[in-house]
Amino acid sequence: MESEIVDTRFSNQNMTNVDSENDTETPNDDTNENITDVDSEIETETPSDDTKKRDKKKRKNEDPGIVYLSRIPPLMNVKIIRNMFSVYGDVGKIFLQPDDKAANTKKGRMFTEGWVEFEDKKVAKSVATKLNSKQIGEDETINELQRRMAAMFGKEKALFVPTGTMGNLLSMCVHCPSRGEEAILGSRSHIFVHEQGGIAFIAGVLASLIENKPDGTFDIEIMKQRIRQIDDPHFPYTRVVCLENTHNFCGGKVVPLSFMEEVYNIAKSANVNVHLDGARVLNAATALNVPVKDILKHTDTVNMCFSKAGGILAAAAMYALDNVLPRLHLDHEHAKELSKGIMASHNDLVNIDLSGVHTNIVFITMLKDNVPSQILHDRLLQITEEEKRELGDVVIVKTVVYSDKLLRFVLHNDVSSDDVELTKKKFQFILQEIAEKMK
Ligand SMILES: Cc1ncc(COP(=O)(O)O)c(C=O)c1O
Repeated sequence: MESEIVDTRFSNQNMTNVDSENDTETPNDDTNENITDVDSEIETETPSDDTKKRDKKKRKNEDPGIVYLSRIPPLMNVKIIRNMFSVYGDVGKIFLQPDDKAANTKKGRMFTEGWVEFEDKKVAKSVATKLNSKQIGEDETINELQRRMAAMFGKEKALFVPTGTMGNLLSMCVHCPSRGEEAILGSRSHIFVHEQGGIAFIAGVLASLIENKPDGTFDIEIMKQRIRQIDDPHFPYTRVVCLENTHNFCGGKVVPLSFMEEVYNIAKSANVNVHLDGARVLNAATALNVPVKDILKHTDTVNMCFSKAGGILAAAAMYALDNVLPRLHLDHEHAKELSKGIMASHNDLVNIDLSGVHTNIVFITMLKDNVPSQILHDRLLQITEEEKRELGDVVIVKTVVYSDKLLRFVLHNDVSSDDVELTKKKFQFILQEIAEKMK
């Protein structure tokens, strides 16, 4: 699978976009009144359900200059979203719809959905394509593992990352979305003692330490006093309490569930989240002889380790050195062969610079303005009845749209010579099909 550089904070957020050819319509005053605005999000009244439905429809279907956000990560705000999207182009207004049901504070709100306006419609379209990219989340092995872990843990979603340190760090970034926010940690916690201060220098999180007792717990009364949620810019905001179970530095002890439950209840009533560094939470569940869900119901997020420090991935990399590297030249040969096959099909729709195909990457240039690369991309993902009748064996071909004019595909270990043959035939069939339609 290929990876794309996207803001990972949004990559799993299931955002969808308007991809409509309809005329743009600047939201009228009526619409604006009912949507939370950049500068007035605190004051805006919650719109009625009818208004929300109408605005959503309008935004989703009628305005190509707008990227619709169907789910927004916890505790985002307009400033963060503006910063994130500014890397793509000039951002206009941002609308965020407050979640009436969530516990909100002035410093941190929850939103159900939102819209980002771009000055340039083309930028909006390309951002939406990125957010919708099917590449993200297309690896079925990872998807399956994530589904299993989420189900086993009783959590909404799981994310596979290479190391436990990264899992903890990401969790801190999620819980403390603005720099300078605070996490309460045990003084002997792995996050504080052994993770290179990453939560400070990467996530910008302030650690508020409570001394760990030998059993891995800490004084709950002190925790209560430490929670700071004052709407005064002098003070950092406490966002999360971190627990660890089993507790490594306290001797691998199982931290009692009664303690976790008490911490969780107090934290939640103060609108603070709880993260568990559960690198060895399955050891805790085994030692307690309880389903792991019973432990995790006292946490919002958890980090669990299958290996220490990325060993599993190192093993896969070593396998690749021994088994994939020696056959890398095949991918290059396949790329050339396929490119020649595509160019051999009599068409004036696409071009490949054959002299530029040096390795496993091939760029196709679209030659007709009325056949943008998205059309070819989408058709390559389909298999039609006629295609089956005509070609017999058929394949789905995954490509990446780089722009209206550019489409890329990449050969790799899992694409055999037979696959290349089928792909060649598919391209030829489709190019013929599109050419026929254009007549
Ligand atoms: C409690 C705890 N959390 C997190 C980690 C970090 O895991 P990794 O080494 O995969 O980054 C460890 C590693 O030993 C650990 O013991």
